[in-house]
Formats: sequence, C-alpha cells, structure tokens
Amino acid sequence: MSKSYFVSGGNRGIGFALVKLLSSDSQNTVIAGARNVEGASELKKWADLHSNVNIVSLDVSIAASNEGAAKEAARILPDGLDVLIANAGISKSYNTILESSDDLYYEHFTVNTLGPIRIFRAFKSLLDKKSTKHFVVVSSAAGSLANNIDFPISTSCYGLSKAGLNLAESGGLRDCGCSSWSRRNRHGLSGFERCQVQRCV
Ligand SMILES: NC(=O)c1ccc[n+]([C@@H]2O[C@H](COP(=O)([O-])OP(=O)(O)OC[C@H]3O[C@@H](n4cnc5c(N)ncnc54)[C@H](OP(=O)(O)O)[C@@H]3O)[C@@H](O)[C@H]2O)c1
Repeated sequence: MSKSYFVSGGNRGIGFALVKLLSSDSQNTVIAGARNVEGASELKKWADLHSNVNIVSLDVSIAASNEGAAKEAARILPDGLDVLIANAGISKSYNTILESSDDLYYEHFTVNTLGPIRIFRAFKSLLDKKSTKHFVVVSSAAGSLANNIDFPISTSCYGLSKAGLNLAESGGLRDCGCSSWSRRNRHGLSGFERCQVQRCV
C-alpha cells in the first residue's frame, strides 16, 4: 500500500539510505529534508531519476525552518503525511563531561534532542490528517541508561542529547495525547539496527 514519508537529514548517511529505500517503491511519496538543498548533489541526482522524491529545505535547529518545511510538505501532501522520520543528528564530540564546553552541549541538544521535538510540533497537524500516525526517531545506544551504562560515550554531549531524546520519545508523546501512536526509537549503530529502522517504516 502506498505511503508518504518525510525524512529529516535525507541528503546523506542513514537518511539518504532511507530515502532511496522508501522511494524505490514508486507508489510511495518521499520528502527529504536537507539543510543545504543546493549542496545535496547525490540527493538531487536521485530525485531527478525518481519523480516520487521531493526535496525540502530544513534545518531542525531553527523552529521557523521546521514550520516552513511542514508548510511545504502540506503543499505536496494535501491529504496528510503517514510517517515522519526524525533522522537528522550530529555527533561532534565523545569527550567526557569535564572536557566538554557548555556550547558543545547546547549544540548537541538543539539538534539531537530539540530537533525531533521541533519537527514533531511542526508536522503534527499534517500527521493528524492520516490514521497511520507513525513517528520514528533515530536515537543511539549511547543515550540508553538501561543497556549501556558503561558505554564510554554515554556521558558525552552526544550520549546526553540522545538520552534526552529517548525520554522525549517514551514519555513526551504520551503526555501530549499521542500514546496510541505507533512510535519507533532506533539507534543506527549496526547494520542490523539499520535494517530494523528500514523494516519498521
Ligand atoms: N551512523 C551510526 O553508526 C549511528 C549510530 C547511532 C545513531 N545514529 C544516528 O542516526 C542518525 C543519522 O546518522 P548518520 O550516521 O546518517 O549521520 P550523518 O551521515 O552525519 O548524517 C547526518 C544528517 O543529519 C543532517 N543534519 C545535521 N544537522 C542538521 C540540522 N541542524 N538540520 C537538519 N539536518 C541536519 C546532516 O545534514 P548536513 O549534510 O547538512 O550536515 C545529514 O543529512 C543521527 O541521528 C545519528 O545520531 C547513527
């Protein structure tokens, strides 16, 4: 059955792999968010060959950019969006708490923790138009308290920002009345997990 997907950070890495996978079914409509659309040459090449792929400008660290991307997505998908995939993320440092500056923490939090929250806020009304209501966040084992307490990067800016994301995903959606939604929280460490991400959408 055809579905519509929005993938943030769709120009490279896991995001681009998802865009390629999902748009390989020509029945699907895929929108890829890219921070620098002009520079997204591989994605643009793919979109030129696949008419079901659209590219939209999106910097998840800026609220207005998320709202602008949602507006553009609503123009492309007037009947609503099935699956929102919050994939965009950064990992610029695995230093310890003592070695990391406040600015480095803020940078990771604004992209990795608040980015998925901003995108969810901006896109919620478009997701609400459909009964599917799938929200996927791409997290990391580095942000898990339960399973990876000794993981060396769990206390880095990256690990803390993903731990915040995990909590936002597990409790935040319930708090805003979306507890019946299908949520997926995946980390992208291994090929196996990447397959899980691909399968779950
Ligand atoms: N690769 C792994 O082994 C691994 C492991 C655990 C978790 N993850 C998670 O999986 C996700 C994808 O990782 P990846 O390995 O594919 O990373 P990647 O190759 O570095 O790609 C990151 C993507 O996020 C985008 N991005 C970064 N900051 C952004 C912003 N402010 N606004 C919009 N887009 C932004 C990048 O865009 P630009 O091209 O403009 O920079 C790029 O498209 C991330 O959330 C990451 O934390 C990955």
